[in-house]
Amino acid sequence: MNYEIIKKPKCEDFPKRPNLDDYEGMRAGFRWEDIHKELDFLPGGCLNLAYEAIDRHLKTDKKDRVALIWDGRHETKERYTFSDLSRLTNQFANVIGSLGVKKGDRVFTYLDRVPELYISIIGIVKAGAVVGPLFSAFGTEAIKDRLIDSGAKVLITCPELLDNVYAVKKDLPALEHIIVVNKHNVPYTPKEGEIAYERAMAEASSEYQICQTDKEDFCIMHYTSGTTGKPKGAVHVHEAIVGHYATAKYVLDLHPDDIYWCTADPGWVTGTSYGIFGPWSNGVTQLVTEVGFTVHHWYELIARHRVTVWYTAPTAIRMLMKYGEKETKKHDLSSLRHINSVGEPLNPEAVDWSKQVFRTAFHDNWWQTETGCIQIANYPVQDIKPGSMGRPFLGVRPAIMNTDISEELSAGEEGNLCLKYPWPSMFRTYWNKKELYESRFKNGWYITGDRAWRDEEGYFVFVGRADDVINVAGHLVGPFEVESALVEHEAVAEAAVIGVPDPVRMEVVKAFVSLREGYEASQHLKLEIKQFVAKKLDANAAPKEIEILPTLPKTRSGKIMRRLLKARELGLPEGDTSTLEE
Ligand code: PRX
Repeated sequence: MNYEIIKKPKCEDFPKRPNLDDYEGMRAGFRWEDIHKELDFLPGGCLNLAYEAIDRHLKTDKKDRVALIWDGRHETKERYTFSDLSRLTNQFANVIGSLGVKKGDRVFTYLDRVPELYISIIGIVKAGAVVGPLFSAFGTEAIKDRLIDSGAKVLITCPELLDNVYAVKKDLPALEHIIVVNKHNVPYTPKEGEIAYERAMAEASSEYQICQTDKEDFCIMHYTSGTTGKPKGAVHVHEAIVGHYATAKYVLDLHPDDIYWCTADPGWVTGTSYGIFGPWSNGVTQLVTEVGFTVHHWYELIARHRVTVWYTAPTAIRMLMKYGEKETKKHDLSSLRHINSVGEPLNPEAVDWSKQVFRTAFHDNWWQTETGCIQIANYPVQDIKPGSMGRPFLGVRPAIMNTDISEELSAGEEGNLCLKYPWPSMFRTYWNKKELYESRFKNGWYITGDRAWRDEEGYFVFVGRADDVINVAGHLVGPFEVESALVEHEAVAEAAVIGVPDPVRMEVVKAFVSLREGYEASQHLKLEIKQFVAKKLDANAAPKEIEILPTLPKTRSGKIMRRLLKARELGLPEGDTSTLEE
C-alpha cells in the first residue's frame, strides 16, 4: 500500500454526520442483539425479511415515501411508495399461494430489472417460500443447472426469455408453473399452462397475512461457483436482515432522505442484500435502472435523480475512468455524498481518481455470497488506505490463518482469510451439499477461500483466491462449468479453463482445448465455440481467448493439469510436474 492515505475530517465537519461516528468505540460495545431492537419482528418472535423491508414502514410516516424509482427502457419511468409495494407484494404472495406454493418451496425469478422482479422477490419471501433470483443474462445450461438443483416449483420470467426456458423444460420435472411478466407488451401467444402475471395480479386480493417465519427459516438462495462441480446454492435465512440492515446503515451510511443507487442485478447477492433488503429495511428510496452500463447514461441518472449514495463495482469504475473528466464535466454529480465499491480488488488509482472527480473517494468493501453481508469495509469516518479493503465491520472478526487453519498469523503475513462464526447473515448450508458446506469450517473459523494480509492497524489487503475460481468483472466463474459447456461442443475433445489478468475486468476466461478427429483449428471455429458457451452460460463465462492444442497436459491418472497451463501462460514456475503424463 504505497499510496497516500486519504484523510477524513472530524465527524462534526461532515455535511451529514455519519451513522458510524466512532469506529473503535462502537466496535468495542457492539452486540448483534442490539440491532434486533431496531427491527420490528412479527408477533410471537417470528421474523420475516419482507416484513422488515417493506410492511413495517406502513406504521410510520415512511409509508408514503417513494421506495422504488424505476428508470426503464423506452423512457418509461415508474415510482412506488412503501405502501404500493406492500399492496403489490401481498397480491403476488396470493398469486403464488393460489398455485399451491407452501413455506419452504423454491420459487425462482428469471427477469430483467423491472419493478415486477422486485415485487415477485418480496412476495415470495412474504409467502415463506425460498426465492432464487437468476440473472436474465443466463443461458440455457446456467438456468437448467440451478433449476434442477433447487427443484424450483414456480418460475417467474418474461416472453423474451421463454425460449431458453422451454429449451430445458423437459429436464425440470419439479417445475409446475411458469408466470410470465409482459412488461414491454411484446406480441406473444401464451402457451397452455403459462400464467399471465398481469391477469393473475388483477384478480388477486391485496390483503395478505405474512407467513409466520422463524428467523432460521430459509428465505433466499444464490448460486455461486467453486473450483470443482456445478454452482452451488448458498442458502440464507430470515435472520440475514439483521446484517443487511446494520451494514446498509453503518457502511453505506444510509440516511432517511437519501436517494440510493446500487448498480448490481438481484441475480447477484449484492443486488438483493444491497439492492433490496438493506436499503428498504432502512426505509430509503432506491433507484433501479433496467438499462445496462453506458458512461453517459450512468452519469445522467445520478444527475437527474440527485443520487446521494452509490454502490458499484471496480470494473464499472475503471470503465468510467477511461472516459475521464471529459464525461464527468458534462454532468452535475454534486449530489453524491458517499460512494462504495465491491466484488473485486479496487485499484488505488481508481480510489485516487474518484477522490478528485467526485470529491469523495470510492470506499471499497469485501464480502461474499456466503457471508450475506459486508464483513470488511472502509467507512466514512475512517482514513482510507488505497489498496486496502478496510477494517472489520462491527461484530465481525476476521483473521489471517495459516495453511491448516490452526494458527493466526501476524500483521504483514499473507495467509487464508477466515471469519469467526456465527454472524446473523451467514449462509446456513449449500443446497443439497451439506458436506461441502461443512468443509468450509475448521477450528471455529469459516474459511473464505481468499488469501489476504492485514497491517498493524487492522486494515486488510486482498491478495488473490486460494482456489481456481475466476473473477470476471466481479462475477465468479467456475472453471468446471465452462469446461463442461466446452466439451458439449461437437468439435471439442477436452478442455481446460483458467483466468488471465485483464486491465479492466480483473480477469477474463482463457480456454485450452483439443479437437476431435476430423475438426481443423480455425478462427471461425474458435468464434463458434465462444458463442456456444456464451449461449449456454453467459457472456462473463465465455472464453475471451481459445488456444487449440494437440493434447492437454494430464497427470498419469488422466486429470487435466489446469495449474500447469496457468503457470505456462503467465510465465510462472511450473511447480511439481512429477505426475505429468509422459
Ligand atoms: O474473491 C473475493 C472477491 O469476490 C469473492 C466473492 O464473490 P461473490 O461470492 O460473488 O460475492 C459477491 C458479493 C461481494 C470474494 O471471495 N471480492 C469481493 N469483494 C472484494 C473481492 N476481492 C477483492 N476486493 C474486494 N473488495
